[in-house]
Amino acid sequence: MADNLKTKARYQTWIRIYKLLIFLVISLIFLWVTLLPVHLYLRVLSGILALPFIYIAFILSYSVYQFAAFGGNYQSKIHDLMVAKVNWDGKGKILDIGTGSGSLIIKLAKTFPNSFLTGIDYWGGNWEYSKAQCHQNAVIEGVSERIDFLKASAADLPFHEDEFDRIVSCLTFHEVKDRRNKTEVIKEALRVLKPGGEFVFLDLFMDEKIFGDEKELLNILKKHGVSELNSCKLDKVMKLPKLLLNKKVLGNAMILSGRK
Ligand SMILES: C[S@@+](CC[C@H](N)C(=O)[O-])C[C@H]1O[C@@H](n2cnc3c(N)ncnc32)[C@H](O)[C@@H]1O
Repeated sequence: MADNLKTKARYQTWIRIYKLLIFLVISLIFLWVTLLPVHLYLRVLSGILALPFIYIAFILSYSVYQFAAFGGNYQSKIHDLMVAKVNWDGKGKILDIGTGSGSLIIKLAKTFPNSFLTGIDYWGGNWEYSKAQCHQNAVIEGVSERIDFLKASAADLPFHEDEFDRIVSCLTFHEVKDRRNKTEVIKEALRVLKPGGEFVFLDLFMDEKIFGDEKELLNILKKHGVSELNSCKLDKVMKLPKLLLNKKVLGNAMILSGRK
């Protein structure tokens, strides 16, 4: 169908299909070897090696199903939860860092019809989202004239200090490869937030390997000009299917919200 005839916005899930395919193909290769007329030792070894790949392929496929609109629709539900946490009269500017396919920012545009919105993303080759897709989704949803989509890195935002009234970000900080210390990426987001402005960030903040000790992270942010800070584990505010609470999926997900 020609692009201009598309009538339904398309929002991919957070699971990259190429990753899922890699695990599926490796699982199938190992399983295929177990059926070959080779030494029993090799067949057993191949069967054992297949197990972690089958497990990961299963978790990824299940997550795609639960996140997608044709399944549990949890991605959209989580974005709705974040929108509900944005406490605002909607007059001014809001930024979404790592906007993906534009799902969250488009929901915000519909909720706050007087706001001006900016969505930035790196849209790197290893993700299956694009700026053109965001724009097209915004056109289809009738909010394109109020949203600017910009290609930029969350590690180095192309904005002046104190530019935005509200800032949101969903599952992006941990993905930023061009800054080893992810707390610095959060600080960069806070730099462009107005004093008194509020933020809602959802990420794997409970993963110590990525963000360090949780209490230390909160203390650093408090010392960095955050005057009010609330944290809550995602599964305390939303009932999630058990398998999505796997540590590799949303088990470490937490919402940090507050005011600069
Ligand atoms: C898990 S997806 C989340 C997308 C979107 N926030 C959502 O909730 O649907 C992570 C996003 O981070 C973006 N990303 C990765 N590195 C980035 C960077 N350095 N700067 C900005 N965005 C980045 C990816 O392109 C991707 O869109």
